Amino acid sequence: MGIKVVIIGGGSSYTPELIEGFIKRYESLPVSEIILCDIESGTAKLAIITRLAERMIHRSGLPIRVSSTLNRRHALEGADFVSTQIRVGGLEARALDERIPLKHGFIGQETNGAGGIFKAFRTIPVLLELSKEMHELCPDAWLINFTNPAGIVTEALLKHGPHQNVIGVCNIPFNMRNSTAEVLHVDVKRVSIEFIGLNHFVFGRRVFVDGSDRTQEVMQRLMTKQLDFSPANIVSLGWSDAFLQAVNMLPNPYHQYYFQTTETLKKDLAAYNTNGTRAEIVQEVERTLFEAYQDEQLDEKPAELELRGGAYYSDAACSLMDSIYNNRGDVQTVNTLNRGAISDLPVDAVIEVNAVITKEGPLPITVGPLPLSVKGLIMQMKQMEELTIQAALSGSTKDAYLAFLMNPLIQDEKRAQPLLEEMLLAHAAWLPQFQSKEAQRT
Ligand code: G6P
Repeated sequence: MGIKVVIIGGGSSYTPELIEGFIKRYESLPVSEIILCDIESGTAKLAIITRLAERMIHRSGLPIRVSSTLNRRHALEGADFVSTQIRVGGLEARALDERIPLKHGFIGQETNGAGGIFKAFRTIPVLLELSKEMHELCPDAWLINFTNPAGIVTEALLKHGPHQNVIGVCNIPFNMRNSTAEVLHVDVKRVSIEFIGLNHFVFGRRVFVDGSDRTQEVMQRLMTKQLDFSPANIVSLGWSDAFLQAVNMLPNPYHQYYFQTTETLKKDLAAYNTNGTRAEIVQEVERTLFEAYQDEQLDEKPAELELRGGAYYSDAACSLMDSIYNNRGDVQTVNTLNRGAISDLPVDAVIEVNAVITKEGPLPITVGPLPLSVKGLIMQMKQMEELTIQAALSGSTKDAYLAFLMNPLIQDEKRAQPLLEEMLLAHAAWLPQFQSKEAQRT
């Protein structure tokens, strides 16, 4: 029997990446059925993506069936793998996440600061519903979650959802490893990076090529700006020698928001005043992409997709499915339960870490205590994530305010309040849990 894969958010412009990933790996990961599932407002996009997927598969000559549906329960029945790439509220909600904080003088970003917290508020209840459905309809399936904020959402699913076969994935560690291999002129398979931390807050502690430690050489490349990890959606300011020497780990591009807050905010504001928010830029890229996708001659992933920050994410998802299916026991970087791998963090916290991938799921590799240089900040970020999940579930504005207070990009008791109020109002349609009077009394 072949493998059945369900893509929740199948109408996403990123889907051709996944289709390409399945075609490339067919020999080791024989997917026989792909169901693209979406919601009613995504019908038109879903139809375009389904047609393109059909053409891509036809070109490959592989016996993969692809279909689309708006009926999630029907799609999930008997699935082996489910991947999620949804955006509750669409790019319009993302634009609010980016614009409102900027207006209040804070970083406006879809996974960091107030924007990331609100994206979690909108997303967690929706994915918990999916968790219940999977538990009932495909209890053995693995849920590969790409939906942002991926770390927070994965933790909410593992702590509060009935379905426990859940792994969170991000393209950032994957891209960091690829760029490192490129700058060292070696095949990426020979490179391993010891990743420690949280999603979009991960550090590369050590870099090995064929088992030999090359960390210092890579740090040098960062200092001389020969190496830059920033994807399309994040500013690229570069790092000072002093910072790199003191921290002595590879920062990920999102760290710029935390360690270069003033400069990032300035750059983001300038970019916003000229081009609008990233959401608005992405809307434009999407228009071009969907136009290209409609070309009946197109039967492969178009190059324009690389203009998106999540480019190459499918490699991470497909390699993961391949390793679970084949019980490979190889090492991949995932968002999974800590289980003591980082001794300073709760055992049930979700961390971004290297893990051995088996058919039973990921087994995180021990990191030990966090380096003193970044320990406090990582613990604060985790605490903020926990508060975010608490607020997403309770719908209490007091809990939401606490999450804002503990977020290093907000952390201002007076200015946090009007920001929170405006965001709650702007997103009200997507936040039913915050509308109940009951929740506000707790
Ligand atoms: C990065 C992040 C993803 C995020 C993406 C946004 O790659 O790791 O989590 O979804 O960028 O890209 P976009 O093109 O939508 O701005």
